[in-house]
Amino acid sequence: RPRALSGIQPTAGSFHLGNYLGAIRQFVALQETHDAFYMVVDLHAITVPQDPRDLRANTRLAAAQMLAAGLDPDRCTLFVQSHVPEHAQLAWLMNCLTGFGEASRMTQFKDKSARHGSDRITVGLFTYPVLQVADILLYQAHHVPVGEDQRQHVELTRDLAERFNTRFGDTFVVPDPYIVKETGKIYDLQDPSIKMSKSASTPKGIINLLDEPKVTAKKIKSAVTDLETEIRFDEERKPGVSNLLTIYSTLTGNSIADLETTYQGKGYGALKTDLAEVMVEWVTPFRERTQEYLDDPETLDKILAKGAEKARAVAAESLAAAYDRMGFVPPR
Ligand code: TYM
Repeated sequence: RPRALSGIQPTAGSFHLGNYLGAIRQFVALQETHDAFYMVVDLHAITVPQDPRDLRANTRLAAAQMLAAGLDPDRCTLFVQSHVPEHAQLAWLMNCLTGFGEASRMTQFKDKSARHGSDRITVGLFTYPVLQVADILLYQAHHVPVGEDQRQHVELTRDLAERFNTRFGDTFVVPDPYIVKETGKIYDLQDPSIKMSKSASTPKGIINLLDEPKVTAKKIKSAVTDLETEIRFDEERKPGVSNLLTIYSTLTGNSIADLETTYQGKGYGALKTDLAEVMVEWVTPFRERTQEYLDDPETLDKILAKGAEKARAVAAESLAAAYDRMGFVPPR
């Protein structure tokens, strides 16, 4: 079986619909075909200030949501990044192979540093992508299911794996991004020219999976569309409607073409009312399952402990190989 690896930050509390459709949905699917490793990236979270209590709560909340979304601890390895110290260790080696200019070109970093100013951001944020490289390489992952915004980080991972292998001998699998074209970028409901995101979206533009279902329905119903009336998939000219069709199609399994036929001659109101219902039917059991995991922290922690143990076995082997190839004297 090929390996899959991915991670998700625990910072936001509730995951949003972009996280689910762009990434977590693929995590669930790849459990069936891959030896899959999924983690809550708490070490990445602290690249921006975190209240310790929030970090602890949000890390468990993230894991609970991943399980509620369909990850099965018997079919994948679910763990918390900081439980596997090899991530930070391999990241250091990779930091020493990454060009300063190369890291400076990472667009996510450039965006954030432009927004906050370089004195208010940390060196950790700068090397964030290098830690992500280590995450992926430790598991010898063939496929990395992510949204479109993570493509550049996977490209960096490929470059560093090749660099390491060339300099020190074959050690790491060179991974491919696994990005589903239709859902790789879910757009903000109020501004369909930007992606749905915790940092850029307004509250009305973002569907938080743990919102009250009533709130979710209202956000769908007030989504920005366009001045026409025709329900047609056209990302260029009708980005708002196209985004709604993508969401609808993915959640129900109906093709976009079928939806276009179904809604021929009907208005945007009909589409939104039906999609709101579809969303409510999806989030209601999701919220309940998440709450069940939160209500039973002992079970949750046990799942994460078992996951960390399985992850460490794989990670330790890769790290030992990397240390050896680079010429570190083994401890006796
Ligand atoms: P994060 O936590 O920001 O997002 C988690 C996943 O959700 C995807 N995503 C989206 N997909 C489609 N449309 C959107 N609007 C949207 N918004 C977010 C992201 O692409 C991501 O796949 N750096 C990563 C976490 C990470 C990681 C890794 C990923 C750390 N180590 C190793 C893969 C492999 C991040 O910040 O994701």
